[in-house]
Amino acid sequence: MCGIVGYIGPRNVVDVLLDGLRRLEYRGYDSAGVAVVDDGRVVGSKRVGKLANLEQALAQSPLRGSAGIGHTRWATHGRPSDTNAHPHLDCAGKIAVIHNGIIENHAALRAELMARGHRFASETDTEVIAHLLEERYRGDLPAAVRAILKDVRGAYAVGVLCADAPDQLVFARNGASPLIVGLGDGETFVASDIPALLAYTRRELIIQEGEVVVVTRDGATISTFDGTRVEREVNHITWDVRAAEKGGFKHFMLKEMFEQPKVVKDTLAGRLRDDDSVDLSELGLDDARLRDVEKVAMFACGSAYYAAAYGMYLIRSLARLPVELELASEFRYADPVVGRRTLAIAVSQSGETADTLEAVRVAKAGGAAMLAVTNVVGSALARAADATLYMRAGPEIGVAATKSFTAQCVDMVLLALHLARLRGTLDPELGASLVRTLRDVPSLVDQALNVNEEVIPLARRIAKAQSMLYLGRHVNFPIALEGALKLKEISYIHAEGYAAGEMKHGPIALLDENVPVVVVATRSPVQEKILSNMAEARARESRIIAVVNPHDDRALECADVAFTVPQTHPLIAPIVNVVPLYLLAYHIADHKGCDVDQPRNLAKTVTVE
Ligand code: M6R
Repeated sequence: MCGIVGYIGPRNVVDVLLDGLRRLEYRGYDSAGVAVVDDGRVVGSKRVGKLANLEQALAQSPLRGSAGIGHTRWATHGRPSDTNAHPHLDCAGKIAVIHNGIIENHAALRAELMARGHRFASETDTEVIAHLLEERYRGDLPAAVRAILKDVRGAYAVGVLCADAPDQLVFARNGASPLIVGLGDGETFVASDIPALLAYTRRELIIQEGEVVVVTRDGATISTFDGTRVEREVNHITWDVRAAEKGGFKHFMLKEMFEQPKVVKDTLAGRLRDDDSVDLSELGLDDARLRDVEKVAMFACGSAYYAAAYGMYLIRSLARLPVELELASEFRYADPVVGRRTLAIAVSQSGETADTLEAVRVAKAGGAAMLAVTNVVGSALARAADATLYMRAGPEIGVAATKSFTAQCVDMVLLALHLARLRGTLDPELGASLVRTLRDVPSLVDQALNVNEEVIPLARRIAKAQSMLYLGRHVNFPIALEGALKLKEISYIHAEGYAAGEMKHGPIALLDENVPVVVVATRSPVQEKILSNMAEARARESRIIAVVNPHDDRALECADVAFTVPQTHPLIAPIVNVVPLYLLAYHIADHKGCDVDQPRNLAKTVTVE
């Protein structure tokens, strides 16, 4: 995915664009560029690499203008380079285009355009749009955009600037690439995501699929691709502006880990009743339909998939429903058996992951009731679903998910309790005790964060490891998977997450003194087995790093290094246990000097399949 911004108004246009791009850099960071209209000309600057390179270039050769567009890229078509960076221009250099997404029929369009004499400067799919517009533009930019989009196939958000139309910007959206307009007084902003708007305005218009928006200093006019005018309600953004800043922390990831207690609190707010039951009436899903559900199908990607895996254990155990869990990218090809009595649950922080949205389409086509768990109000996922359970994690800027995973896990507990109560499968005492435990989770997570200082020396000692193994059982198995993913993503150390019992069926062959093994070994009904697995790994000379509960001598005996987290109900414990694993991955990556917030090759949200 990429980040796109636009601005028209009295401020210094380039400053606003760069500020917006800085806040969207998590979406892609292999190159960046801006273009502005200045005195009837389009002028711009583009640089490969981080935004800092573009900032440096613009400091040396400043640009001025009345309106502008900007882009931060995550390459899909064409390697990262100055020329492949956006914006892209038509042959005459009068039309500039930025784009997030993929133009599926770009090769055919490029061949046709070249046959008609157009000269291409880049290898990107985006550039075809600039040349198509060059052919269609006859003094009415919105009309030209509408006309060319009839020939363009794919999922995209595009932004267009034209030298002959300095008082407007035109944006269009098709598919899951998000697009938001921020309304100011005598100025208007456009961005792929809310953090780019927060410093300027709280009033937003969410542009939906199949819409074109014409942006001027006085506001925005939305219409469909065929030109029908659309009235859109102005949304009030509630996110705290400080949430999109580092707030004194070295990295966003570190800050976001320390936000976990608040995120848990926010995610629980108003959802726990005084009688120790869960209130999810906000879902608006028909209770009778939920009671009638005969199975649950869950899908997601990456960390969200591991949160869904945690949810699977809970829903099975508490609501006594069969649960099929699938990676979203596999779901559509897996010939899933879904019908009217299936409850499909899609989990996604961004609500715009292409694989997840495609799986939603398949589940809905099969007749399933579609429930979304997401962090972003108005996201494509929220709109596609019949009901949405929001995560309330606030903006997550670090590319590696942390606080959003925690919020997803909290939502999983709420959902499982809700389904269980409706279906009459919930033992009232257990239900009440889980709700009481949930109330303590913000404080428990806060206490777990106290291991931060202890993690640092260990992280330094093991930062040279080439490979690590993460083990957990039952509800802590997804936590082991999440811990391993985090290490891979940000420190580039190979790591495998395994169900502890499975270790002896293969991965044990990898173990020696050079392969540290991280084990989630807190008190639970399966702890006895975990302790045996730790002994097995230790017998192969591996150094055992364990997450344990206080005063647990038996677990401590099996570990070389232990991080102590507070004990809680075993079904809720994963939300606490993940904390040291996040800190460990973070401090290893930081010690290695890795780019923690923007790991190589990754983007925060993957809007391509
Ligand atoms: O926005 P989503 O939750 O749908 O994103 C899913 C994954 O792409 C995401 O969790 C990814 O694996 C992160 N890099 C994990 O840290």
